[in-house]
Amino acid sequence: MTKLIAITGITGVQFRQGSSVADTFLQTPGYTIRGVTRNPESAAAKAWAAKGVEIVQGDFDDVKSLEKAFQGANVIFGVTDFWNIFGDPRSKELKKPDQELVAYCYEVELRHGRNLADAAASTSSTLERYIFSSMADATKSSGGKYTKLYHMDSKAQAATYAQSLPALKDKFSQIQAPIYFQVATEWGLPIAPKKQPDGTYRMKGPGPGHKPIPFGNVRTDLGPCVKALVEQAPPNTNLFAIGDYVTWTDYLRIFCETQGLKYGGFDELSYEEMIEILPGGLGHEFAQNALFAFEFGYEGTEPGIVGPGKYGIRMTSFREYCEKTDFSALLKD
Ligand SMILES: NC(=O)c1ccc[n+]([C@@H]2O[C@H](COP(=O)([O-])OP(=O)(O)OC[C@H]3O[C@@H](n4cnc5c(N)ncnc54)[C@H](OP(=O)(O)O)[C@@H]3O)[C@@H](O)[C@H]2O)c1
Repeated sequence: MTKLIAITGITGVQFRQGSSVADTFLQTPGYTIRGVTRNPESAAAKAWAAKGVEIVQGDFDDVKSLEKAFQGANVIFGVTDFWNIFGDPRSKELKKPDQELVAYCYEVELRHGRNLADAAASTSSTLERYIFSSMADATKSSGGKYTKLYHMDSKAQAATYAQSLPALKDKFSQIQAPIYFQVATEWGLPIAPKKQPDGTYRMKGPGPGHKPIPFGNVRTDLGPCVKALVEQAPPNTNLFAIGDYVTWTDYLRIFCETQGLKYGGFDELSYEEMIEILPGGLGHEFAQNALFAFEFGYEGTEPGIVGPGKYGIRMTSFREYCEKTDFSALLKD
């Protein structure tokens, strides 16, 4: 019998988490795919429709639209988008006057995560597995040291909410995405490797250059991890989709080696310096995320978190990612 998987976050500009899941299930016999978007008329939505994905309208802010979008689904993949809320000009108007923008985004993303869980619960008669893309509960895992890691706690608390719903009992699992390899190479952030007057490439980033950071090629590797959660893992699994632990210095060294460039060195930035180069909350979230990961482990301290190796999934290394990626836009100046 064919199963129906409903996938949110399928239409991202750079086609990341939801797209990875859709690619995987398009290649998995026995599944039909329903993609959920706010705008079924977008170019991205139409591109999926052309591949045979049923596209339906659904908004994380409108639980009724999600209930309709999830109707009859056997599997649901839910991913909320903190940075879409952060980048929405309306958020600055809607937040309380004295509220930090990232604190407002936390509230909205948590609401979105709860709405997704409620909508998943409404289709429990057909639902076998609801997979939610979460992150560590930084407040809890750090014993109260990191209480303002908003883009992590919002997802963690939405996962806790989903776990509390009787209709999702033994139907819920979560996946944690690592830091995307692309963070310093493809998003135009000021931490990107930069050519120096002497021709070498230097980069900067939060925290020390010699400590391993969990990265991954989410675009290609998240889908197989979600598939393992659906087909191999028992419910209530928390899978950390780690691809490759890489230090900042090795990140730059591997980047330079694979692109035929001269390595110039890494500059460690403090939390304060990160806020200065990435103002408005972005530097705060990014720097604290790295500092929390160095100290407590990116995936948090909840017991029983498993990795892709448990299910025999081959993850992309940073070297492989660099060898396959066209960095001409970054290297043009
Ligand atoms: N960058 C990292 O290193 C990293 C690491 C771990 C976790 N994350 C998390 O990953 C999340 C983003 O996932 P991604 O990279 O896969 O995003 P993405 O590729 O940019 O896609 C965002 C998706 O979210 C959908 N969306 C946004 N708001 C929506 C709403 N109100 N209702 C329905 N759909 C909505 C968009 O659909 P439409 O616009 O078509 O509606 C789009 O498909 C963020 O929350 C971030 O914190 C990032």
